[in-house]
Amino acid sequence: MILRETIDEIKNRLDIVDVISDFITLKKSGQNYKGLSPFTNEKTPSFFVVPGKGIFKDFSSGKGGDSFTFLMEHEGMSYVEAIRFLAKKYGVEIKETEATEQESAQQSEREGLYILMNFAREYYHHTLLQDEEGQSIGLSYFRERGFNDKTIEKFELGYALNGWENFSKEAISKGYSKQLLEKTGLVVKKEDGSSYDRFRGRVIFPVHNISGKVIAFGARMLGKEKNQPKYINSPETEIYHKSNVLYGLFQAKNAIRQNDNCYLVEGYTDVISLHQAGVDNVVSSSGTALTEEQIKLIRRFSENVTILFDGDAAGIKAALRGIDLILKGGLNVRVVLFPDGEDPDSYSRKLGTTDFQNFLKEHAKDIISFKVDLLKAEFVNDPIKRAESLREILGTLAAIPNEINRRAYYKSISSSWQIDEQTVIHEINKIRRKNEDQISQDQKRKSAEVENEEVEIDQKLLDLEDLPLSTDNMVQYQERETIRLLLNYSDEALEDQKLSDFLFHELEDVAFVNPIFSKIFKGLKEGWEKNEIRSSHYFINEGSEEVKKVVTDLIALRYDISVHWGDKFHIHIPKEGDILNEMALTNVLRLKLRIIQKMLDENKDKIKYAEESGNESEVDKFLDTQIGLDQAKKKLSEQLGIVIAR
Ligand code: CTP
Ligand code: MN
Repeated sequence: MILRETIDEIKNRLDIVDVISDFITLKKSGQNYKGLSPFTNEKTPSFFVVPGKGIFKDFSSGKGGDSFTFLMEHEGMSYVEAIRFLAKKYGVEIKETEATEQESAQQSEREGLYILMNFAREYYHHTLLQDEEGQSIGLSYFRERGFNDKTIEKFELGYALNGWENFSKEAISKGYSKQLLEKTGLVVKKEDGSSYDRFRGRVIFPVHNISGKVIAFGARMLGKEKNQPKYINSPETEIYHKSNVLYGLFQAKNAIRQNDNCYLVEGYTDVISLHQAGVDNVVSSSGTALTEEQIKLIRRFSENVTILFDGDAAGIKAALRGIDLILKGGLNVRVVLFPDGEDPDSYSRKLGTTDFQNFLKEHAKDIISFKVDLLKAEFVNDPIKRAESLREILGTLAAIPNEINRRAYYKSISSSWQIDEQTVIHEINKIRRKNEDQISQDQKRKSAEVENEEVEIDQKLLDLEDLPLSTDNMVQYQERETIRLLLNYSDEALEDQKLSDFLFHELEDVAFVNPIFSKIFKGLKEGWEKNEIRSSHYFINEGSEEVKKVVTDLIALRYDISVHWGDKFHIHIPKEGDILNEMALTNVLRLKLRIIQKMLDENKDKIKYAEESGNESEVDKFLDTQIGLDQAKKKLSEQLGIVIAR
């Protein structure tokens, strides 16, 4: 574990403007800095850095946080990687708690694997370019496929000589142990104790992790020998888990972010050919359907994925496998179908850069429409197939988490299968309820397994502005406002007491709905009870990533309003400090009002349910509750009306 004092020392020395300037061009603007959002493709800058607070806020993507957050979001680093990166940049020595023997052995084993993989990458690359066999066989193969020098460098392609021990001998002469060679999988051990090189007489494709370290290799045969697999790949190792890796992501991540789209292809050569055709936002799942981890990886850079697949029937079937999982992961999926017999590699070379890029743009079709057309062609005149295919398309549609995105397809399904739209909606909701039950059961099981671990929180809870205005969201909106007031004005005096005293007393019995807001509120209250003021600074330093994001947003929001409205349009906005009394009071009233509204909504459902199941005494009970709630609501509304009118 890295010691707290190391992190504090880094925080003392770092300058967020300096950190971010390594990646983005920033311009000074008053006290602050701004630049073009690196997360979207924008023309007017909406990316702000506030050095005084050590934070950034990107208004076009909604991302924000401190220097660590930036490196995690922009470079895909883990928290620990960000710490190490900054420690190096600012010359801070990293102090760690004594690792247990096992931990440090593991650590150094991993380090060893990385170092050897890197050595192997250099060796194979050097062999390709400098060795006679490398040039005449490996390099000429790549040339034949149309790969140019730039591409060969970008993907660090290589060649493994055709012999049993060329690589091992070289590595051992450089001091690498036999054991380590076996652990990387570069060398295979035989039963009699002797060993040989795994990759022989093949061209080499290094596989990088997201920060650019080589963790595996794929090796393609050159000729067409039968009885030989076309590709031989590294086995799973301590540093390589196939299901967590996407080939090409390291080279593609910035382009994916900028284009807000990720092309997905089948193999190594498709990725590389697309780069040569000027399409850099492409990754490959190495011939298999995407895993959940891989979907999450893509989501870090974009929510849109476009799957490119071969035009043969097998290609289509393969591409449709796993689509539901991708949709469930919250990605928007489009597909491009290639003409029969063509794959992205062959077709990009056939058309050339411009035509190929246009082809991709013109032929991308959203997955549901694509599937509807495909199924429709299948079920003509076959009632059994027809029912089957309906179930299938409904299942796929139900996998889309966002209601608005689903709604777009109700009509087309209802007309294609000639059933009415209400039935479609009803069936979809039924499937979703069933899935949700399944999910919540899984979650219960998981949370029982990992007690104490931070709850993973739905990103959507943080971006309230984007949510439809359900009463649940309205409550959360007001919860956030409460936190904002406390963060900014905790110690300010209202008419007869401090703002914090007023709010904490008034909201004594209120339990927050949103788990992150609840966490921050509790933190603030804890500080209040100890008589210490916890400002945004406290939470940005101490909080989890989710907490950091909320707090950053809350302090940045006001900043944006004052800059844009105040300076640009000369519109007078009353300073909040002048109207705190009203703000605090209306906030409390609104929060309570919305909680009551939420209870009313829930109660209405209960009444309906009791009515449907014919339980009269229950109906009466809930009707009483409704009357009570209605009265409370009326009273609060009146009070709120008075305050607002004043
Ligand atoms: N693959 C593999 N092992 C094999 C065959 C395929 O690991 N024996 C994986 C590779 O990642 C490969 C992908 O599946 O890139 C797609 O396979 P294929 O289309 O056969 O290979 P291409 O990459 O298209 O290679 P080429 O264009 O040279 O035929
Ligand atoms: Mn191919």
